[in-house]
Amino acid sequence: MRVKQTVVVTGSSTGIGRAVALRLARGRHVVVNARLGADDGRRVVEDIVAAGGSADFVQADVSTEQGVADLFAAAASVAAGPITALVNNAGVARSVPFGEWSSAHWQEMLQANLVGCALASQAFVGQLGGGEGAIVNVASVRGVERFGRIGIAAYSAAKAGLINLTAAMARELAPGVRVNAVSPGFTDTRIFRDPASEEDRRRIDRWRDHVPLGRFLAPEEIADAVAYLLDATAVTGANLVVDGGWSQSDG
Ligand SMILES: NC(=O)c1ccc[n+]([C@@H]2O[C@H](COP(=O)([O-])OP(=O)(O)OC[C@H]3O[C@@H](n4cnc5c(N)ncnc54)[C@H](OP(=O)(O)O)[C@@H]3O)[C@@H](O)[C@H]2O)c1
Repeated sequence: MRVKQTVVVTGSSTGIGRAVALRLARGRHVVVNARLGADDGRRVVEDIVAAGGSADFVQADVSTEQGVADLFAAAASVAAGPITALVNNAGVARSVPFGEWSSAHWQEMLQANLVGCALASQAFVGQLGGGEGAIVNVASVRGVERFGRIGIAAYSAAKAGLINLTAAMARELAPGVRVNAVSPGFTDTRIFRDPASEEDRRRIDRWRDHVPLGRFLAPEEIADAVAYLLDATAVTGANLVVDGGWSQSDG
C-alpha cells in the first residue's frame, strides 16, 4: 500500500468537520470521527473514496479520556502512514440562561469544547514519538468577540480557553509541532438549518443581517482555512478568524 500521511479530524461526520475531512483527503488519508452519527461518518468515508481519496471511520467520544484513547488506538491500526496532523473540530454548543446554569452544563461545555481538545492533542503528540506534526483547533468567534453574548457563556468561555490553549501548546510544543486555531463565524451547518423555534429562526436572520459580508459562511470556506494552517510551515500560535467580518461589526 502507498504510504500517505494521515490526519485525524474529530467530529467530522457533519458540518465543518465533514468539509475539513473532504478537503484534507485531497492529499492525506483521513480518519473520520463522530460520537453518535456512525451512519453519517461512514457516508463521509464513502464520499472521500468516491472522490478518489482514502479514509476510515472511528466512532469515539473525544470529550472523554477513554474515547480519545480509543480513537488513537483505532486510528493507528487503520492509518495508511504516520499520523502527522490532528484537527480538533468536535464541539457542542448549548444555550442556557444564567439562572439555569448547573455544574453539569459547564462540565459538558468544557469537556466537549476544551478539555477533549487538550486530551486529543496529548494523545496525538504522544504517538508522534518526537516526530513533526501539526494541530488545528476549531474554536469560534464567540471566543474572541468584544461583546458578551447572552445564553452561551459556558460555550464562549470554553472557546476562549481553546484559543489560549492553542497559544500555550504552540509555545510548549515548538519547534516540532505547530499548533494553530481557526475561529469560524456563523457557518451554514445543521445548527442554523433546523432552528428549534420560530424565535430562533428570527434570531438567526438578525445575526445574518449583521455579518458585513451579508451571508453565513460555507463549511468549505472554514475547511480552506484549516488546510492552510496545517501546511503553513511558518505559522504557529495563530488564531485565524474566518467570520465574514462579524467580529468587526457591532452586531
Ligand atoms: N457552525 C457554526 O456557525 C460554528 C461557528 C463557530 C464555531 N463552530 C465550531 O465548529 C465545530 C463544528 O461545528 P458544526 O457547526 O459543524 O457542528 P455540527 O454540524 O453539529 O457537527 C459537530 C460534529 O462533531 C461531532 N461531535 C460532537 N461531539 C463529539 C464528541 N464528544 N466526540 C466526537 N464527535 C463529536 C458530531 O457528531 P455526533 O453528534 O454524531 O457525535 C459532528 O460530527 C465545533 O467545534 C463548533 O463549536 C461552529
